[in-house]
Amino acid sequence: MVETVTSSFWWRWTQPHHHPRRWVPSVFTTHKAIITAVWIAFLVTVFWWQVDATAGILIFRRVFPAREVPKFRPVAFNLTDFGGVGDGVTVNTEAFEKAILAIAKLGKKGGGQLNVPPGYWLTAPFNLTSHMTLFLAEGAVILGIDDEKYWPLMPPLPSYGYGREHRGPRYGSLIHGQKLKDVIITGHNGTINGQGQAWWKKFRQKLLNHSRGPLVQIMWSTDILISNITLQDSPFWTLHPYDCKNVTIRNVTILAPIAGAPNTDGIDPDSCEDVLIENCYISVGDDGIAIKSGWDQYGIAYGRPSKNILIRNLVIRSNVSAGVSIGSEMSGGVSNVTVENLFIWNSRRAVRIKTAPGRGGYVRDITYKNLTFENVRVGIVIKTDYNEHADESFDPKAVPLLENISYTTIHGEGVRVPVQIHGSKEIWVRNVTFRDMSIGLTYKKKHIFQCAYVQGRVIGTIFPAPCKNLDLYDEQGHLIRRSDAQNATDIDYDI
Ligand SMILES: *[C@@H]1O[C@H](CO)[C@@H](O)[C@H](O)[C@H]1NC(C)=O
Ligand SMILES: *[C@@H]1O[C@H](CO)[C@@H](O)[C@H](O)[C@H]1NC(C)=O
Ligand SMILES: *[C@@H]1O[C@H](CO)[C@@H](O)[C@H](O)[C@H]1NC(C)=O
Ligand SMILES: *[C@@H]1O[C@H](CO)[C@@H](O)[C@H](O)[C@H]1NC(C)=O
Ligand SMILES: *[C@@H]1O[C@H](CO)[C@@H](O)[C@H](O)[C@H]1NC(C)=O
Ligand SMILES: *[C@@H]1O[C@H](CO)[C@@H](O)[C@H](O)[C@H]1NC(C)=O
Ligand SMILES: *[C@@H]1O[C@H](CO)[C@@H](O)[C@H](O)[C@H]1NC(C)=O
Ligand SMILES: *[C@@H]1O[C@H](CO)[C@@H](O)[C@H](O)[C@H]1NC(C)=O
Ligand SMILES: *[C@@H]1O[C@H](CO)[C@@H](O)[C@H](O)[C@H]1NC(C)=O
Ligand SMILES: *[C@@H]1O[C@H](CO)[C@@H](O)[C@H](O)[C@H]1NC(C)=O
Ligand SMILES: *[C@@H]1O[C@H](CO)[C@@H](O)[C@H](O)[C@H]1NC(C)=O
Ligand SMILES: *[C@@H]1O[C@H](CO)[C@@H](O)[C@H](O)[C@H]1NC(C)=O
Repeated sequence: MVETVTSSFWWRWTQPHHHPRRWVPSVFTTHKAIITAVWIAFLVTVFWWQVDATAGILIFRRVFPAREVPKFRPVAFNLTDFGGVGDGVTVNTEAFEKAILAIAKLGKKGGGQLNVPPGYWLTAPFNLTSHMTLFLAEGAVILGIDDEKYWPLMPPLPSYGYGREHRGPRYGSLIHGQKLKDVIITGHNGTINGQGQAWWKKFRQKLLNHSRGPLVQIMWSTDILISNITLQDSPFWTLHPYDCKNVTIRNVTILAPIAGAPNTDGIDPDSCEDVLIENCYISVGDDGIAIKSGWDQYGIAYGRPSKNILIRNLVIRSNVSAGVSIGSEMSGGVSNVTVENLFIWNSRRAVRIKTAPGRGGYVRDITYKNLTFENVRVGIVIKTDYNEHADESFDPKAVPLLENISYTTIHGEGVRVPVQIHGSKEIWVRNVTFRDMSIGLTYKKKHIFQCAYVQGRVIGTIFPAPCKNLDLYDEQGHLIRRSDAQNATDIDYDI
C-alpha cells in the first residue's frame, strides 16, 4: 500500500496546476517527505537526461504526461499502485482486479477512478464495478490476452439461448460488467485493444469450441458513459451493452480491419433503452452499429425491446456489412430509433433492417435523417429473409412487424443500388416514407429502386425515381397517385 501512495503522490506533485495537498495521504504530509520526493524526482530525471538526450525526452514525457488527468470521483488510483506494469508482457489482471476491488469499497462515497497511464497493459478479462471511472491516458493501451485459456466461460445470453457461434457457454468479454450502476470509461483517447487477430484466425480455422467474446460488454446495468477512447481489434462485437438503460457513447473511435475481422461489429445496443451514440468514428469488419433485441424463440421469451435510441454525427465504414443495422436478432422488438447526420463511406450497405420469419417482434418508428453515402453498394436496405437461426425449434409463424420507417434528406455519390426494400407476403413493410432524396449512381441500371411488398409514400420528387409500390404526394402533402402495385416485386440480389 505504501508503494501505492508513493507513486500516486509522485505523479500528482509533478503535475502543473495541481494542489498536491488534497491528494497526499497523511503519512506524507510532512514537509520532509515532500522535499525528499521532489529531490528523488529531480535526481532521477537528471540522471535519465544524462544517459541519452533522445531517450531522456521520451522518459521525460512519461514522467510528466502532457495532459492533466481530470478527476471524476473523490478518490483516484493509478494502475501502478496495484503492481501494474505497462511493458506489454507482464499480465496485469491482478492489478486491475485489486484496483477495482478497492473502488468497489468506495461505492457509497461517490466511487473511485482508476487511471491507466501510458504503456501497454496486457490483461486477461476482468469485471468492472459500480460507481467507477476507468480513465485511459493518452498512450495508454489495455491489451487483451489472445490466449482463450485465460478467458472465463459464461452462460449464453438468455435472449439468444445459445453462444451465437456455438452451442453452450461463450467466452466473456475482455472488459465486463453485470448489474452495475454509474460506470464511466473515458480518457485522453487511450485504447482498449482486443488483439483480435489470433481469435479471427482460430475462428476461420474452426479451432474454437465456444463463441468468441466481445471487447467490452456491460449487462443489466444503468447509467453507462463511454467517451473519448479508442476501441480496437475486438475478437468479436466491439461494444455490447446488453439489457441496459441510459447508455451514452460519445466521441469514441472504433477500429478493426475492414476485411478478415469476422463479426467485429462496432456497437451493438441489445435490448437497451435510452441510448445515445454520437460523434464517433467507426471502421470495422462487420456492421458499424447493429441494434438488436434477442434471437427467435429465446428473444421472444426474454421479451426486452431496444427503444429510445438516438444515433447522430457519425462517420462509418463497413466494407463487409452495413453502416447501421437493425437486426437481424430483433425478437424482443426495436422501436423509436433516430439515425441522423451520418456519413457512410466505402461500405457494402449504408443502413439496413434485417429480419426473418421466426424472429417475431417488431421494428417500428424508425427515423433516418440527413444521411450521406459515398461509394456504397446498396444504400437503404430492408431484408426479410435473413434466415439464420439459433436452432430448429423457432416458430416460422412468428413473423416480425415492420412499420413506420422514414427516410428524409438522403444524399449520396457512387451508389450502385440506392434502395432495396424486400418485404414478402408474410412480412410486409408498412408505412415507409421517403422525402428529399438524391443519390448519385455509379452506373445506369434498371433496378435501382427495388421494392417488394412495401406500402408507403414518397413526398415531393426524389432521385432516383421511386418504385411503383409507393404512393406519390406533392411537397404540400396532396396525393398525386396511389399505388396499385404494393405487392409488385422487383428485387435483384445479383448486384
Ligand atoms: C501512474 O504512475 C506512473 C508510475 O509511477 C506514472 O508514470 C504515471 O504518471 C501515473 N499516472 C497517473 C495518471 O497517475
Ligand atoms: C465477471 O462476473 C461474472 C458474473 O458474476 C462472472 O460470471 C465472470 O466469471 C466474472 N469474470 C471475471 C473475469 O471475473
Ligand atoms: C474527443 O476526444 C478527443 C480525445 O479522445 C479529444 O481530444 C477531443 O477534444 C474530444 N472531442 C469532443 C468534442 O469531446
Ligand atoms: C484517437 O486515436 C485513434 C487511434 O489511435 C485515432 O485514429 C483517432 O484519430 C484519435 N482521435 C482523436 C480525437 O484524436
Ligand atoms: C476444442 O475441443 C477439442 C476436443 O474436445 C480439444 O481437443 C481442443 O483442445 C479444444 N480447443 C479449445 C481451443 O478449447
Ligand atoms: C444517465 O447517465 C448519466 C451518466 O452517464 C447521468 O449523468 C444521468 O443522470 C443519467 N440519466 C438519468 C435520467 O438517470
Ligand atoms: C471528452 O473530451 C473533451 C475534450 O477534452 C472534454 O471536453 C469532455 O468533457 C470529455 N468527455 C468526457 C466524458 O470525459
Ligand atoms: C424516443 O426516443 C427519444 C430519444 O432518442 C426520447 O427523447 C423520446 O422521448 C422517445 N419517444 C417516446 C415516445 O418514447
Ligand atoms: C471490400 O469488400 C469487397 C468484397 O465485398 C472486396 O472485394 C474488397 O477487396 C474489400 N476491400 C478492401 C479494401 O478490403
Ligand atoms: C448533415 O450531416 C452532416 C454529416 O454527414 C453534417 O455535417 C451536417 O451538418 C448535417 N446537416 C444538418 C442540417 O444537420
Ligand atoms: C407512418 O409513419 C410516420 C412516421 O414515419 C408516422 O408519423 C405516422 O403516424 C405513421 N402512420 C400510421 C398510419 O401509422
Ligand atoms: C397482388 O395484389 C393483388 C390485389 O391487390 C392481387 O390480385 C394479386 O394476386 C397480388 N399478387 C401477388 C403476387 O400476390
